[in-house]
Amino acid sequence: MTGTSDGLEGVVAAETVLSEVDGANGRLIIRGRSLDELAGRTTFEDAVGLLFGGFYPDLPADIPAALGAARVEVFAEVAALDTGLLDRTPIEAMRALTARLADGDDAQVALRLLAAPAVFTAAVVRAQAGEAPVAPDAAMRHSADILRMLRGTPATKAEADALDTYLVTVCDHGLNASTFAARVVASTRAGLTSAVLAGISALKGPLHGGAPGPVIEMLDEIGEPGNARAWIEAALARGDRLMGFGHRIYKVRDPRADALKTAVRWLDARQGRLEFAEAVEAAALAILREHKPNRSLETNVEFYTALLLEALDFPPSAFTCVFAMGRVAGWLAHAREQLSGGRLIRPASVYVGPMPQKAA
Ligand code: ACO
Repeated sequence: MTGTSDGLEGVVAAETVLSEVDGANGRLIIRGRSLDELAGRTTFEDAVGLLFGGFYPDLPADIPAALGAARVEVFAEVAALDTGLLDRTPIEAMRALTARLADGDDAQVALRLLAAPAVFTAAVVRAQAGEAPVAPDAAMRHSADILRMLRGTPATKAEADALDTYLVTVCDHGLNASTFAARVVASTRAGLTSAVLAGISALKGPLHGGAPGPVIEMLDEIGEPGNARAWIEAALARGDRLMGFGHRIYKVRDPRADALKTAVRWLDARQGRLEFAEAVEAAALAILREHKPNRSLETNVEFYTALLLEALDFPPSAFTCVFAMGRVAGWLAHAREQLSGGRLIRPASVYVGPMPQKAA
């Protein structure tokens, strides 16, 4: 075979029982359940049980308690946060702390890795604001404890439910770039920690999980609905991409966008913020249709992620870390699925460089 596919578009690189992204119909299925059945109705711990079922036979039956204990365990690593790390972006600092965890393939390693982005991000965000870390409470629901560790005060039920909605909505999504990266590393038998570090590294880029921070910058620069068209047209004229729009697989609206918009409505967000964002979204969609009429560019998950995480008091610089708190469940499930029978992932390339000169 000599053909290549730019960006591996259309290439099927794995069979999975974990999730199906139906790009033509705007549907996401996670282990036989549609996103509508899960988002807003399920805790993150339940979603972990769904994804991990059959892949981690040594996982304790009480996932909330096991995850709570893992949060407490990994918190010990927060002591390694030094000024060198605090000068880095939150995701780089969180990744560095995660890299301190031992590698391995069992459920205990997986539980620590599930807990790591949550515990480390809360500590990094607080330390960067000059505040001491807040220790985890093993008895709490994961989402509620994340918000408490972040802010130092208990979250309301609506806030914890909204964060659960987010974590469940993003917990898995087919063979996206970070999950593929995690599966490639898992396929070498490098261990779950290495696979998760690969996932975090791929997620960090602005074309993948790094988009929601810039969505807030866009909204803040636009300032009021009347400025939207001029701002967006100028951005596109410069060749910039509009963050929170477009997707490789979805050619219709990303179903996750509306699941998150619903959760934003539960929160006591800034007066008029959602209505303003909706006006910017409408302007962006209209202009993208004029600008790229053949491209079916629609709203993706990141647009309303930005609104939701802002309303929950996460700083935009840490939005990608919150994405990792949810997606880590998918990386870990995919890593084990890859290990259960998958071969080393090693595609071919086509050499198009110069050939050696013939000896005279
Ligand atoms: N704004 C403006 N133009 C866009 C956008 C956008 N957001 N997205 C795609 N396009 C245009 C490209 O310029 C390109 O135009 P051209 O072919 O005329 O040059 C065309 O649409 C196709 O773009 P590709 O980059 O080939 O499409 P691809 O499938 O590789 O990209 C991606 C998908 C990376 C998500 C893209 O839509 C994008 O950059 N979006 C903005 C970043 C973003 O929101 N990322 C989060 C995605 S969701 C997630 O990962 C969780």
